[in-house]
Amino acid sequence: MNNKKKPLTYLTFTYGCQMNEHDSEVIAGMLNKLGIKETDDVDSADIIIFNTCCVRQHAEERVFGRIGQLKKLKAKNPNLIIAVGGCMVQQKGMAREIAERFPYVDILFGTHNIHNLPQMIEDVMNSRETVIDIWDREGKIIENLPIKRADNVKAWVPITYGCNNFCSYCIVPYVRGRERSRALEDILREVKSLASEGYREITLLGQNVNSYGKDLKEKLEFADLLYALDSIEGIYRIRFMTSHPKDLSDSLIEAIQKCPSVCEHIHLPLQSGSNKILKLMNRNYTREHFERLVNKIREHIPSCSITTDIIVGFPGETHEDFLDTLDIVKRIEFDSAFTFMFSKRKGTPAADMPGQIDSDTKKDRLHQLMTLQKEITYKKNQELKNKILDVLVEGINETKNGKLIGRTRTNKIVYFEGNRDMIGQIINVRIIEPRTWTLIGEFCGDEK
Ligand code: SAH
Ligand code: SF4
Ligand code: F3S
Repeated sequence: MNNKKKPLTYLTFTYGCQMNEHDSEVIAGMLNKLGIKETDDVDSADIIIFNTCCVRQHAEERVFGRIGQLKKLKAKNPNLIIAVGGCMVQQKGMAREIAERFPYVDILFGTHNIHNLPQMIEDVMNSRETVIDIWDREGKIIENLPIKRADNVKAWVPITYGCNNFCSYCIVPYVRGRERSRALEDILREVKSLASEGYREITLLGQNVNSYGKDLKEKLEFADLLYALDSIEGIYRIRFMTSHPKDLSDSLIEAIQKCPSVCEHIHLPLQSGSNKILKLMNRNYTREHFERLVNKIREHIPSCSITTDIIVGFPGETHEDFLDTLDIVKRIEFDSAFTFMFSKRKGTPAADMPGQIDSDTKKDRLHQLMTLQKEITYKKNQELKNKILDVLVEGINETKNGKLIGRTRTNKIVYFEGNRDMIGQIINVRIIEPRTWTLIGEFCGDEK
């Protein structure tokens, strides 16, 4: 397909979660294999790919805005190929809407057929016709696609795809399909190969990692996977996300305690502190269950950091319901939280629920919650002052005067002075100035 002398180039815009970032690494791998090179220059790229997200309205608006900006570029360079894919395009009727609104888009693909993207690009090159291919349903998991990873130290490793939970506000199950677990051997093979390539940290990805294995023939649970991965030489750290509070098991808590490479950090989305709202959200747990779970985690793994996601302004959320959220946030003291205003997603039950909250109230609640959480995050980070922590060095941050950037086992970002050779190593860093979003430290020990 490469009929020019100069290699073709591509540029990908990725929105949304880690799963999408990983999908973009697969896209990069496939294009690279065809000799198409990555560029960061939008004006000269031959192929521009959007890997989209639709979890909130805002994510979609950003994509629309960006595709709109490309109209001029396409007029200047008619050979430019614009491909739009991912979660947003997987929604019913959306591919048609995009094709009508932006007729200069060449390719529309969904979440279930990204492996076909090279073929679609070739088809467009040959025919110059728009190619739209969205699969209604998920197919079998496709293993062994080429991957060009964005980082040299840390790697994403999907362990499940899709979601069966149908939280009433959430579009993910509709655009990512039913939950499918990857076979244990496939995950082990990938992680062993990552270790041999020099990767030091893996993050296992799934919408609900605790339900790993439920659909497999062998009897396996998430903790079994952690034990199997923990013994792989060369992988210093194993992380995972996301844990659904209804499924987080004692066996997982035990595995975190027992497996030296499994990091002490759990991302445990609360979503709301009101039992009434949790029920309307179809989350299948109560605030009391959530609090007991957090207490149990902290009792068994005292150093464990716990982070969360919270939505404000869900339909029917009264002032009292919101106070329940503030109250549990004060009681639990999360290490940090991602906070969102409820966003109506077409086709989800919550979009049609009575008692929709006006935008000013949502903004006000979000502001109050963020202010509270910021104080808590700052206060919790102060406990780390003068502590010496294991930090895995990830790279150099050019915007921070060339300081090194690394993370604690609890997933907190640390900046400190050091040298390039430390990248990929675990070193001792003394925390000298804990801030809200980052910790400032100093190197104080030998590499381990
Ligand atoms: N599977 C993960 C994450 C899913 S999306 C989980 O269950 O936790 C990430 C976060 O986006 C969710 O935790 C939720 O807080 C938020 N979110 C999802 N749908 C939303 C919506 N319609 N409006 C606002 N926030 C939403
Ligand atoms: Fe969405 Fe709920 Fe599934 Fe998370 S668990 S992806 S919030 S439906
Ligand atoms: Fe992720 Fe957004 Fe899709 S959060 S799964 S990219 S809708």
